[in-house]
Amino acid sequence: MLAGDLDPGVRKAMEIVVALGRIYGARRLVRVGSVQVAGVSYRNLGEAGLEFLREWADQGARARVPTTLNPAGVDLRAWRELGFSESFAGRQVEVVEAYRRLGARATCTCTPYLVGNRPQVGEHVAWAESSAVSYANSVLGARTNREGGPSALAAAITGRTAAYGLHLDENRRAGLRVLVRCPVRALSDFGALGYLVGKAARNRVPYFEGLEEACSAVALKALGAAMAASGAVALYHVAGITPEADRADALELDHETLVVDDLRPAYAALNTGDRAIDLIWFGCPHASLEEIAYVARLLAGRRVKAALWITTARDTRERAEAEGLVAAVEASGGRVVADMCVVVAPMQELGFRTLATPSAKGATYVPSHAGLQVRYGTVEQCVEASVTGIWPDKF
Ligand code: F3S
Repeated sequence: MLAGDLDPGVRKAMEIVVALGRIYGARRLVRVGSVQVAGVSYRNLGEAGLEFLREWADQGARARVPTTLNPAGVDLRAWRELGFSESFAGRQVEVVEAYRRLGARATCTCTPYLVGNRPQVGEHVAWAESSAVSYANSVLGARTNREGGPSALAAAITGRTAAYGLHLDENRRAGLRVLVRCPVRALSDFGALGYLVGKAARNRVPYFEGLEEACSAVALKALGAAMAASGAVALYHVAGITPEADRADALELDHETLVVDDLRPAYAALNTGDRAIDLIWFGCPHASLEEIAYVARLLAGRRVKAALWITTARDTRERAEAEGLVAAVEASGGRVVADMCVVVAPMQELGFRTLATPSAKGATYVPSHAGLQVRYGTVEQCVEASVTGIWPDKF
């Protein structure tokens, strides 16, 4: 590939993989089982990014392993109903088309592991989105660094990545032991815990003790996403739960210990917006079927005043539709939105002011990336806010 025996686009991809390997001192390449590409929203890519993708495809580059895409900037089918402009949506569709030419599956989601891209324990992959990377490493026990857009695509085109960082055993041990000494029950509690631990992690892998009873897959998804947002944590272990936590050497001998006995500082830090709410956002990371079902149950027989969006993968939306969940959410005036993420959407086109969410990652990024104020709380609190339009402080 590097010698240029194949297409020029393949050579370019291998040059990127090899250059990264040299920078990070890798001794070898490993084959990857799958790739998850970030840099899909036209808002982030712009014309230059779109041109770059088209050019690479013209040079004969094609993914040689299963490759999925990160969320786009709009729902690729319902963008008009949501109020997004044709000028943006048209360019966004062209970006996804360029990725399709490069061999990617046009499923735009940050939870590819819920829609068929689910690596095995120990499998090397090259994923890019921070919460997906955290889930793949920690919950599934796969091995990936957090790839950038071009480096993930280069791994897809070559089927290889350089073996450094989290591909190696020695970098997967925990240097921060976290003793959880307060109740962690609601989904937003997991996000709050992740927010605090991410802030304290400073490049160390956290090892949680005291969560054994409480962890569902949805809770782990929220915990990892929050740590990825507040501290770029790409791997964590939970005693008794995650696949590598029970290894004898999971914890470094000279680890530090952090005791978490109060989640209120996280709620205070993430709750900065006005009490008048005009958009509720569930599904960061993209909602599972169970999460959609739970919100639908809470909404039953009620009518929302604020806009309510549940973002999810297209495949998950289709399953939700088949089970009557989309109709149930829509009966209350909410929407199940596919393909997109609020943080990379052109939200200024829609005129919202304050968003409420049970996602700590969403609450971390929304003010800076989407230009909206934010309220952070439980799923129940967010549903209540959707019905009244006012953030309920006590709930
Ligand atoms: Fe996914 Fe966007 Fe949240 S990429 S994790 S929905 S910020």
